[in-house]
Amino acid sequence: MARIFIISNRVAIPGAGGNPGGLEVALKATLRSHPCVWLGWSGEVSDTPQVKTLKKGRNSYIVTDLPPEDFDEYYNGFANRVLWPIFHYRLDLAEFSRRDLSGYLRVNERFADELAKVLAPDDIVWVHDYHLIPLAKALRARGLDNRIGFFLHIPLPPPEILTAMPNHETLIPALGSYDLVGFQTDGDAANFARYLAKELGAPSHISHRLGGGGMRIGTFPVGIETRDFTRLAGRSVRTRFVQQVLNSIPGSLMIGVDRLDYSKGIPNRLEAYERFLIAHPQWHGQITYLQITPKSRSQIKEYSEMEQAVNAISGRINGAFSDASWAPVRYVNRPYSRTALAGLYRAARVGLVTPMRDGMNLVAKEYVASQDPEDPGVLILSRFAGAADEFGAALLVNPYDPDAVAAAIARAMAMPLAERKTRHAELYATMLDNDIAAWGDRFLKALLGRQGEARGVQALADFIAGGAAKEPAATGPARPPAAPR
Ligand code: G6P
Repeated sequence: MARIFIISNRVAIPGAGGNPGGLEVALKATLRSHPCVWLGWSGEVSDTPQVKTLKKGRNSYIVTDLPPEDFDEYYNGFANRVLWPIFHYRLDLAEFSRRDLSGYLRVNERFADELAKVLAPDDIVWVHDYHLIPLAKALRARGLDNRIGFFLHIPLPPPEILTAMPNHETLIPALGSYDLVGFQTDGDAANFARYLAKELGAPSHISHRLGGGGMRIGTFPVGIETRDFTRLAGRSVRTRFVQQVLNSIPGSLMIGVDRLDYSKGIPNRLEAYERFLIAHPQWHGQITYLQITPKSRSQIKEYSEMEQAVNAISGRINGAFSDASWAPVRYVNRPYSRTALAGLYRAARVGLVTPMRDGMNLVAKEYVASQDPEDPGVLILSRFAGAADEFGAALLVNPYDPDAVAAAIARAMAMPLAERKTRHAELYATMLDNDIAAWGDRFLKALLGRQGEARGVQALADFIAGGAAKEPAATGPARPPAAPR
């Protein structure tokens, strides 16, 4: 059986502790069903970096330390001070430096060197996220002809934003060295198709200029292990921990769970909640908003500034509205286990997920999966999260409009049981259709060339073939995507 090589910046080694991130959760089903080798950063920064290989069952893990200059230039630098803000539509926050770009390319070359040592010709390579855009190009330069796919977990902005990134003209076309490039939403995929059409011209040029192999693109909205999560939440809600939280608050719980990141819109959300409290005094003492926000990327200025902003707003709200027996906001920086979160989601009457821009947002999916179908809570979801494409039955809001978010909180708190049940049933059905196993399967089948399995691949290939002016769903010439490698 061919092995699947998973390559990502962070690697989650089972049993190594730490909180499972979205990527580990997303890849769990793939790791279970195929022999895999997962390669990436160990999470350690060292002057004497080492490469370690570990075996767990039939899967292996190859992790490499980063020397301090790579950590600064590749991770904190180009990946998180240039690509992250720009891909989240925040050109204003991008801080480009040529040194960071060369650090980014250097780490990609190093990963390619490590991979080249161990790849067999029929191994399949699946690369994840914005840290590793040029990896396939680096592998091709080493003569490797394996099937290589790329999945972008974060949004891809329109070409009008992307082209403002210095060196985009070498970096973005490097995606053409992949056989398949996958996105979370049709909007992201269409942005990429528009970029290619705008910057590289006619589709006949794509295969020549972009690696010669006939890259295909598609939409693969990431999901979660829906049924398992529902079961986990059902058990966890009865634990002493969750019951203690519930006993310690008067009235209903509203929950938000996000990494401390400007893309998540936490200050805007708190301001919306403040407006809700001003406009609806009848809910004072009847709602507690628990915002769980583990700190992230603290060495980057924008992140530490945000920390202060969130502290200030939550303090202001509590100062203005609390009394001796009630505080409207509980703002917590420590991370919680997946189990604890599942129970808290189930206990929460409202899930508040209002990023300013997000690739998918799995908290939205976990919140829905956690609910008791007989008495479900209400999801308030930003229309700018990828999940909004599938979650029309949530209360969709514009996070830039605090009054609209405040109104949605009021509506969620007062929503009758019948409406809560109907909305939840619709959301849950979507999640059963597209759970995490289906996601991995669809991507890998598409990568292996069974194109019918990839929602959007054909439509987007037609779109590129038909030129940039049309919507991706528009009928272009009925031309199949280039033959898989
Ligand atoms: C997002 C990215 C992931 C990343 C995660 C945590 O979800 O898509 O690739 O791992 O954030 O960020 P960190 O910088 O801590 O890895």
